Amino acid sequence: MQVLVLHGPNLNLLGTREPEVYGAQTLAEIDAELGAIAADAGAKLLTFQSNHEGALVDRIQAARTDGTGFIVINPAAYTHTSVAVRDALAGVALPFIEVHLSNIHRREPFRHHSYLSDLAVGVICGLGANGYRLALHHALQSLGAARA
Ligand code: DQA
Repeated sequence: MQVLVLHGPNLNLLGTREPEVYGAQTLAEIDAELGAIAADAGAKLLTFQSNHEGALVDRIQAARTDGTGFIVINPAAYTHTSVAVRDALAGVALPFIEVHLSNIHRREPFRHHSYLSDLAVGVICGLGANGYRLALHHALQSLGAARA
């Protein structure tokens, strides 16, 4: 069982970036917690953050053949702009959950549309870093179910 967690642009700044919107936890802390949850479940967790659209597309494409069974992705600003990230996710045809720390629907209108949501298994937003944990639990559950 392998889950890939992807973080889009500017999420490397978590902890210092608008903490009133995105919380005080750093990305390293979030990833470490997710790693521990996956390890407890006997699963492998891979994480990847990039500020570059093409790097995210390349990583998604690699997931097709690297043993990944489920993707958890916070595409950050690319949520609202990227046909390329959408096409990559559609291309690899792996199940994924879209996560946002903030409630994008309570924010500026340009954040209300996602290029990914209609392809996602589910979307979690507004629950802070807890959203990643909930998404990972679901991913592990569905991979476990698929194995059983
Ligand atoms: C975000 C919301 C996006 O609109 C924004 O561009 C981000 C982070 C979130 O986690 O709340 O960078 O995806």
